[in-house]
Parts: sequence; C-alpha cells; structure tokens
Amino acid sequence: MTADTLTVANVRIPGRDGAWDLFVAGGKVRELALHDPNAPRPEGRVIDGTGLLLMPALTDAHTHMREPGQEWKEDIASGLAAAAAGGFSNILCMANTDPVNDNGAITRFMLRRARDAWPNGPRLFPIGALTVGLRGRELAPMAELAEAGCVAFSNDGEPVADTEIFRRAMEYAADIAPVIDHCEDPFMAKGSGANEGAMSARLGLRGQPDAAEAIQVARDILLAEYLHVPIHLAHVSCRRSVELIAAAKKRGAPVTAETCPHYLLMTDAALLGYDTMAKVNPPLRSDDDRLALIEALREGVIDILATDHAPHAAHEKETPFEDAKNGISGLDTALAALWELVRQGRLAATDIVTRFAWRPAEIFKLPVNRFAPGDPADFLLFDPEDSWVVTPESLRSKGKNTPLLGQPLTGRVVLTAVDGVVVHDLKAPGA
Ligand code: DOR
Repeated sequence: MTADTLTVANVRIPGRDGAWDLFVAGGKVRELALHDPNAPRPEGRVIDGTGLLLMPALTDAHTHMREPGQEWKEDIASGLAAAAAGGFSNILCMANTDPVNDNGAITRFMLRRARDAWPNGPRLFPIGALTVGLRGRELAPMAELAEAGCVAFSNDGEPVADTEIFRRAMEYAADIAPVIDHCEDPFMAKGSGANEGAMSARLGLRGQPDAAEAIQVARDILLAEYLHVPIHLAHVSCRRSVELIAAAKKRGAPVTAETCPHYLLMTDAALLGYDTMAKVNPPLRSDDDRLALIEALREGVIDILATDHAPHAAHEKETPFEDAKNGISGLDTALAALWELVRQGRLAATDIVTRFAWRPAEIFKLPVNRFAPGDPADFLLFDPEDSWVVTPESLRSKGKNTPLLGQPLTGRVVLTAVDGVVVHDLKAPGA
C-alpha cells in the first residue's frame, strides 16, 4: 500500500477539547483542524474516528526481535506485526541476538529483513552491542555499527561489570550515539526473576535485591556526570533507582530513564503460584516501588515508557520457576494494559503520548508526529471502550508469554499508520 490522501474525521485527541479532523497527504500531516460537520467530504479515504482517540504512533526504545538466531521465539516479521498491532511506528531492538549485533553485517541483515517483511513500517532501528559478543571485554566497532544503521548501543541483559571498560565505552560512544544500560550488579543479581523480599522468602525463591539495580544506577549517574556523557537507564523497576535519578536530574546530570508497563501494573504478588509468565528481569517489585514509578513517570523523573518486549516460546516458560526464561511479551498489549492506569486516574492519556511517543523519539532522534503540518503521519486510533480478552490468538507476536493471558482489558488499538500508510486495521477482513 502506498501513502495516499487520508482523513481521520471526528476524532478526539488527548489533551485537546472538541472533535478533530486529521488531513494526511503524501505521508505527512497536512492539517489538524476542528471537525466541521458541514464541510464537504474530503478527497481520498475517510476513516470515521467517532468514539476513537487519535494519538501519535508510539516509539518503543526497548524490544527483543530475536532474529537472527532465535526465530522460534520471534522473528523480525512477527515482531513488527506485533508492533503494528500495538500502535508503534518506531521499534528499537536489542543486540542480544545470535550472533550478537556487534558488526555492520548483522545490522544490515536486520534492516533488510524489516524492509522485506514490512516495507511501509513500523520502522526498525537496531541497537548495536556496546562490547564484542556482549562479553564486556572489547569495545564493539560502534562507528561501523552506526554507519550500518544502529541508533544506540547497549550490552542489554549482560551489563558491563568492569567500570573502566564501561567508562571507555561511554567515552567512545559519546560522539556516535546514546548508550543504554541495563542496570544490574552482576554479582549481586545472579539468577532469579524474583524481587528479594517477603514474597521471595515465602516462595522459597532466590531473590534479586532492588539495591542490585540501584548500585549500578548510581555508578552510571556518577560516570555520566564525571564524563559529561549522556546515559539512558533501561527498565527502571524500583524506588531506590527513582530517588537516585531524581537527585541526579536536579543536579543537571545528563541522565534519561525508562520503565515498562509491567512495573506500573504488577507487583511480585504475581509470582504467587510460581507463575513463570511474570518472571522478568529486573523482577516485578513491591507496591511501593510501583507507586514510586508511576509518580516518577508523571513528573518526568522517568522520561519514557518502553515495553522490554521479550518473547519466549511455550517450552521456555512451561518449566520449574528457576529454569524459566526471563521476559514478558509486551508489544501487542502495552497501550491497552496502560489504559487501566488512565481509567484509574493514575496516569493521564497525555502522559502516555509524551512518555511513549514524543520523548523517546526525542532521545533517540527518530521521526515523530506532533501533528504539525509536515510531520510524518505516524498515528494510531484507540478505542477506549473496546473490551477484549488477551488470548494467544489475539497476539501477533510469536511470544505468547504474558501474565495478561486470560485477562480482560478495556481499550484497544484499532488502527496504526506509518508515513500515512495503514499498517494495522483491526476492522479489515482477515486482521
Ligand atoms: O526479562 C528480560 N528478558 N530481561 C532482559 O534484560 C532480557 C530479556 C530477554 O532477552 O529475554
């Protein structure tokens, strides 16, 4: 399908009063105007937005697409299908593939797979490895990776333990692209997908203390301030980290941070019954942590939302708790799940727009739609009243590993467009 003339008519927009018409031409926003019921029918396709919310399409700064090497969990085609269904136009994917994305050939391969499967988007933006093989010893060829198309660097789930090497990596990356760090003291956080606390004690699971995350957060903040080099902190899960980030930002440290829907919606109580679907790294924490994260997101201490989409196959989760893989499949359900917090009045819909669309695009310098004329026509339509139940069949991702399975959600992405091309339409035949 090519970008054509398109109008979304009579739609509501978070943070604005009244009903609006969005006019799209040539893949760009032409105009956003108050809805005029007496206006002549515009040319091209008209999408009736009655009862729907219009938002910019989302940018996910943290996904795992699993290709090359682990296509039984996900491949780039299925991952981008889940992204389209979830309302995303930009997807950053981590380097923990097999082989690792630590050279330009792998990056180019990923980009080719994305283009072949989804020529009109969602757009894929690979994150290059920070160190060769994610082994934390030699720096990856970052200039080569950036030239091939990487937009950031990260060692992902294998944080660099050697602070001197991490410091050199930050310095080297400084002129190339942002560094994203999964904050976890690797000695203290061994194994486990459970928070260390009353719940882990009750279940007899080895726990991971929140301090294991916060120690690394503190290290990264100190390095960012010392080197004057920005750092982006991945999937922040606890109050201790939030407090460190808030204080650092007050001092003007070049730090940005993300958290994920599951840390805002769930606690380690989800592990009761040893539910491996809720096993994730960092682990789900306490209710106090959850509330601190929601507050931090509203205040901008946490800059962005990201899914940490981590698809796994059934046999990798249907195991004893200790053996199960960490991770939650999140692209399909992120917005609908977060909507629960909007319904509860804990988040505003505008918080979601800022934290899941505008700010991530700003941090990683990606295309973004602020509905100004000439902006890329990347948008989603959301039905806030649509009630549905999360089933394996309802997920486009190959990864059916979500604790939301079987749960009812209210609110659903019904249409996603990238550069003015509809890439997901729930009402289309066969969708
Ligand atoms: O739960 C997780 N799963 N956390 C990570 O950091 C890695 C990810 C994965 O790749 O499965």
